[in-house]
Order: sequence, then structure tokens, then C-alpha cells
Amino acid sequence: MTYNLKPKTYIFGNWKMYLGFDESNILVHALLQQKYVADNMCIAIFPSALAIREVAMAAQDTPIAVGAQNVNWNPKGAYTGEVSAHMFKDVGCTYALIGHSERRHIFGESNEDVRKKLEACVDVGLIPVLCIGETKEDREAGKTQYRLKKQLMKALDGLDMRGGQLIIAYEPVWAIGTGDACLPDDARDVIGWIREEVKLYQSGIVPVLYGGSVSGDNVVSYVSQTEIDGVLVGGASSTYDTFSTLISRVISK
Ligand code: 13P
Repeated sequence: MTYNLKPKTYIFGNWKMYLGFDESNILVHALLQQKYVADNMCIAIFPSALAIREVAMAAQDTPIAVGAQNVNWNPKGAYTGEVSAHMFKDVGCTYALIGHSERRHIFGESNEDVRKKLEACVDVGLIPVLCIGETKEDREAGKTQYRLKKQLMKALDGLDMRGGQLIIAYEPVWAIGTGDACLPDDARDVIGWIREEVKLYQSGIVPVLYGGSVSGDNVVSYVSQTEIDGVLVGGASSTYDTFSTLISRVISK
């Protein structure tokens, strides 16, 4: 399969809670050794909160950006166990994942929480990566658009991005960590629809990524679709072999 790379193809790696401090540092240094030429690619990694400062320092002034996996919306204060958007910005983050399905479904994050986190990102100048996705039950009940519409509306209606960038990641919950990736044509159709929905709330370019069981074997089938601006990768971003293979496949196509 051959295709022309879009102006920018996003490859984002969500390291979730997979890697400790040393493992995170080893992985970022290994990736940096590759010296990926990133004119037409935007690579970012999302380490644990514990490792973020070291990883961001290692990646400073390189083509690899760093982001937070979650933020608290308050600037600071008595919020035991939380880390604010401001604090992540302060240690070198460019991006923040907001409303990841694991936050929504395991930790009970609501659409209202997601909205406050988006606003906190805008306040401090972090680029939010708004994650949305339907569950298996939604899908089987024909409620995919209903679920996504609601998540988008609650997150974006009236949200003033103040000229800052917004990125959306479509991550169907049933495809995350299951090996049951969304068929590329289905992802393309849903993402095409998301693009139209987002226009109701935001002007300007809003890249939309696909996430859910992306691997070196299937990544090209997503990024070769004009509607899909890139991928948000979980498990396959957490080892050097799998992530570097995945990036190389995108570069070499
Ligand atoms: P997997 O790639 O492990 O399915 O995870 C996707 C994801 O949740 C990225 O944020």
C-alpha cells in the first residue's frame, strides 16, 4: 500500500501505568537515538506522572513531545493525590489526554469533569487530546453516534479555545487493549462524522486520531486514510521494539 503522508501524521503513545521511572527513561532515550525526522510527523509520548519530568527533560528540543495522561482542573490546593494542568505544563508537557476511556469507565470521570479539564488545559496552554468513544453496548444498540455526540457536545459546546489547538482521539472502548481493533473503514467513517460534528463547536483545524489496539501490523491501514490524522497507541507504545516498528512503518510508507 502506498500513500502520501499528510501534512502531519500524529503518532501518540500512551504509556498508561505500564512503565516505572527507569523503564520510562530507558524507553525515551532509545526512541531519541532514532532521531526521527519529524517534519511531517508529530510524535508524542504520555508517561506516568512520576516519570514525566525526567522524560520531558530528555526530550526537550527534540522531535518527540511529552504529554500528561490526566490533569486536575484546579490550579493548586488541597487535592490529595492530584496533579494540576499547570504543574504538568511547568515540567515541560505540551499535551494532555483528557477523558480517556479508562478515566471515564474505571475512575468514574463524567462529561462535566472532562469539560473542566479541557478548560484547565486552555488556561495553562496545554494542548488537550479529547478522548471519546462508545462502549460495546452502545455499539450493539446502534447508539455510537448518540454517545459520541453527547461526549462532544458536553466537552466542546461554548468552549473558547482562545486560539489554542485541540485534538480529538476516537477510541472505541471495546477496541482498547482487546486486540479487537476497529476496522479501518469503520474508523474512517466514524472519524469523518466526528469531523462534521466538531465543526458545530470549533472552527479551524482539529486533527482526529484513532486509538484502540493499534500495532505495527495495522497502523498503516489507519494513517493511510485521509480522514484519520494519526493514531493514539497504548500497549504497542510501551516497548521499544513495538513502538519503533510502528513508527518506522508509518515513515517508510
Ligand atoms: P491499546 O493500544 O493498548 O489498545 O490502548 C489504546 C489506548 O487506550 C490509547 O490511549
